[in-house]
Amino acid sequence: MKSLLNHKFTGSIKVPGDKSITHRALMMSSLAEGTSTIKSPLESDDTFRTSEIMSQLGVSITNEAGMITVTSPGAENLKTPGDILYTGNSGTTTRLLMGLLAGLGINATMEGDSSIAIRPMDRVSGPLGEMGADISLKDGKYPPIKIKPGMLNAIEYNMPVASAQVKSAILFAGLFADGETIVHEQFKSRDHTETMLKQFGVDIMVEGLTVKLQGGQSLKPRDVLVPGDISSAAFLMVLAAITEGSDILIEDVSLNETRAGIIDVFRQMNADIEVNKTSSEGEAIGNIRVKHSENLSSFELSGDIIPRLIDEIPVLAVLGAFGSSPSVIKDAKELRFKETDRLRAVIDELSKFGIRFEEFDDGFIVHPITEIKLTDNDFKGYHDHRIIMMLLVMGIAAGKDINIDDPSAISVSYPGFLEDLEQLKQAR
Ligand code: S3P
Repeated sequence: MKSLLNHKFTGSIKVPGDKSITHRALMMSSLAEGTSTIKSPLESDDTFRTSEIMSQLGVSITNEAGMITVTSPGAENLKTPGDILYTGNSGTTTRLLMGLLAGLGINATMEGDSSIAIRPMDRVSGPLGEMGADISLKDGKYPPIKIKPGMLNAIEYNMPVASAQVKSAILFAGLFADGETIVHEQFKSRDHTETMLKQFGVDIMVEGLTVKLQGGQSLKPRDVLVPGDISSAAFLMVLAAITEGSDILIEDVSLNETRAGIIDVFRQMNADIEVNKTSSEGEAIGNIRVKHSENLSSFELSGDIIPRLIDEIPVLAVLGAFGSSPSVIKDAKELRFKETDRLRAVIDELSKFGIRFEEFDDGFIVHPITEIKLTDNDFKGYHDHRIIMMLLVMGIAAGKDINIDDPSAISVSYPGFLEDLEQLKQAR
């Protein structure tokens, strides 16, 4: 990263395709008999896990020059896999497929890497069990996940946590259940599953915080366009806002309201941000331009905005440190159950730059940085892509050539991150 220090970052860029949308496109195309295409997908470790698993179920998936072609024999004709299904680091693959495999009535065992091995899966097996799915977990909570065929009945489910992964798993299972599946959320989580199911011809009703879906519907093949991932754009947005002279235009990025909470935060902080929606059919898409700002204020985030920016909180902690007064995050306990305990990782690692935090069980207060003073140059990335990229953004803004133990997990969501930064850098 040394080559990136003491530069400004300017120009226009497209970030890789949205991770959540790519996973869903691979799964839904695999349910639809015939050929679907996925344009500008995310090609990363996490999405490879999903496409490999769909291939193991008998779907043909090819990828040529940024276009994936999926040919499926149809949901009824997917086959029992011969081997264990390996989900790597991907919580979305693991959780969504629990619902899908239970619905398909396929005998399968899923397991992932050491991070997946300690992430709670009972939040998904609980409601699926109520539907009649036969799922067993290690210690009742963790992978490996063993799924056996079972007849499913629709349920009406009140979500105890805001989780699009849990909601999506129930909806996938609901496609194959007898009756109408109803999910009520307390706070709206990302709605890509609902939007894409409609696109694939499913009759699904969304009314406020309630989603309803009748079982027994089949999906029709479609051509899906994947917008850029705002969660990847977030790192460039924060870098532009806090490094002198920077001005970055991010093109064709998802502006889905259930994901775009970071834009509200930039506005709350008086950051220099311009947003132009270019299309609002299905998934909203547009351009985001962020320029360096001398006068960032602060943010206070809690309640229903949290699911709209859950993955951006690590890098927002960096932004908060460049504000003029303390910034606050509350109601974000879910961060403790991500690829790593992200509240711990954010506080432990950013503290090494001299940033002061007050920690809560469900968030933190981040104080404005007064003096950048490295107390330790050895940083831990916890094999967590978003923690590693957060550290790189902070290191660049601080002008410090920090040492991160193992940055390889960047490839989980944004394999070309460092190359994109090289492309944007300019002498200052
Ligand atoms: C995701 C949902 C979120 C998010 C994750 C991707 C999805 O998790 O943190 O990166 O694609 O559904 P939860 O739904 O568990 O909050």
